[in-house]
Amino acid sequence: MLAELLELATLAPSVGNSQPWRFVTVDDADRRAAVISNFEACNAAALADYDKETASSYATLKLEGLRQAPVHLAVFIDRETTDGKGLGNRTMPETSDYSVVLAIQTLWLAARAHHLGMGWVSILDPDKIHETLDVPSGWQFMAYLCLGYSEEEHEDPELVRHGWQARHSLDKLVLKR
Ligand SMILES: Cc1cc2nc3c(=O)[nH]c(=O)nc-3n(C[C@H](O)[C@H](O)[C@H](O)COP(=O)(O)O)c2cc1C
Repeated sequence: MLAELLELATLAPSVGNSQPWRFVTVDDADRRAAVISNFEACNAAALADYDKETASSYATLKLEGLRQAPVHLAVFIDRETTDGKGLGNRTMPETSDYSVVLAIQTLWLAARAHHLGMGWVSILDPDKIHETLDVPSGWQFMAYLCLGYSEEEHEDPELVRHGWQARHSLDKLVLKR
């Protein structure tokens, strides 16, 4: 199923059709353990940075499923690819990053269509992830994804349900000119 999901993810549009996304399936137990330690260190640092009230709320949130997820997938961007011949990203280099994010979003939708849950873990030190996964030096870390069947299904986002951040109404987000 993962191969099928990645086939779908790579149908995402990309600037100049450069397809700058690179994926790493992380199965090795020692590397997974290093990622978990990386998360624990970053999460402790984040917790220490909040005021007391926010920290006590933060501490109740479930912010990863690294031990439970059967599939760990890291996503990188290949900064050195010449594919696409610079079309579009000569003027806006950031469109390469946007292209990778579109592949991640496509993967997310495909996973949900297969009744899988996907979590994006960003409470990680990107340089350490690069080292742990031993990827080419021209790749830059974009996302660490956990995939698996979720224990619970909800209509509302977890952070809304736990009172961390409410959803905005559209009138706050759209300007008319
Ligand atoms: C760029 C990005 C980074 C995220 N990083 C985290 C994270 O580090 N920890 C976390 O719990 N959720 C993170 N999320 C959110 C969740 O992965 C996502 O909301 C969740 O899997 C879906 O569940 P929900 O519908 O309950 O929000 C991130 C989402 C995005 C788009």
